[in-house]
Amino acid sequence: MFKYLRVSVTDRCNYRCVYCMPEDGICKEAHDSIMRYEEMLPVIRAAVETGVEQVRVTGGEPLVRAGIVDFVGELAKISGLKDLTLTTNGALLDRFAEPLKNAGLKRVNISVDSLDPENFIRITRNGNLSDVLRGIDAAIAAGLGPVKINTVLIPKINDHEILAFADFAVKKGLSVRFIERMPFNADPAGEPTAFISEETVLATIKTRYQLEPYEEPSFGPAHNYRIPGSEGRIGFISSRTAPFCHLCQRLRLTSGGYLLPCLDSQYGVNIRGMNSEEVKAVIARLFSEKASWRKNRACFAATFDNSLSKIGG
Ligand code: 5AD
Ligand code: SF4
Repeated sequence: MFKYLRVSVTDRCNYRCVYCMPEDGICKEAHDSIMRYEEMLPVIRAAVETGVEQVRVTGGEPLVRAGIVDFVGELAKISGLKDLTLTTNGALLDRFAEPLKNAGLKRVNISVDSLDPENFIRITRNGNLSDVLRGIDAAIAAGLGPVKINTVLIPKINDHEILAFADFAVKKGLSVRFIERMPFNADPAGEPTAFISEETVLATIKTRYQLEPYEEPSFGPAHNYRIPGSEGRIGFISSRTAPFCHLCQRLRLTSGGYLLPCLDSQYGVNIRGMNSEEVKAVIARLFSEKASWRKNRACFAATFDNSLSKIGG
């Protein structure tokens, strides 16, 4: 069964990354179409009863939703849940890192696409890099580590910063993971299929650092490398050049109440109003269907009619 559930608590975001959202924001879900926390919790408990061991809270930007710390606290109480993590853009993490840790959060992944203040503004449209850098330090200080930085490289936008990210991994003793950009139709940055491959990034980093492959103990699609002589690590999530759909054990719950077994939204089921037994039956059905169709699918070959801010990045 699914081992891993990503829960998107909101489709809203305080940033407007050029490849994720149009400048004036996405067409937001109306407030009453967003699930209340009290509606989400029974669904998540049911998912854990079917075998989910890890929950990752995402958005949009999860830290812009009111009540997020208490929600994380409720998730931390679910028995049978082994791992509880959150993905954020880091803008508000300076303030939230410690309360989240105290509520029971284990780790954070922080999305950062530029380490140059000017370029950071260009990509996020309104972000402030120094907020995020403070957020990263706060996460490390609060014990929300090992901290992972997620970076999506886009040709001509930030692919000149590869070595700066490797230097940052070494300097901070953290892991930077390069995520090959996935093709979403709603991607407003033009040419949604253009991406920078793992091979290109590896070759660039090897001009400055030695990289030593290692296996992470927990299952995940990332290819991981150590930088000898430092705590710095480099990872790759190479959905385009090394698709991993055949290994995927992920399920997603969107803020609008859909369970999705894939980024491909056509497989979603609206579970609002269902009781726990009905939710479990949907999860079992999605899992068995996924096992049959994913074998035949050329993953990531087609663009998805969706956006990650809606379905949970
Ligand atoms: N491909 C890969 N990752 C993406 N994200 C947003 N759009 C894409 C895409 N097309 C990531 C962001 C952030 C999370 C919200 O989703 O970089 O890590
Ligand atoms: Fe917000 Fe993340 Fe999308 Fe940027 S990529 S606009 S930070 S949801």
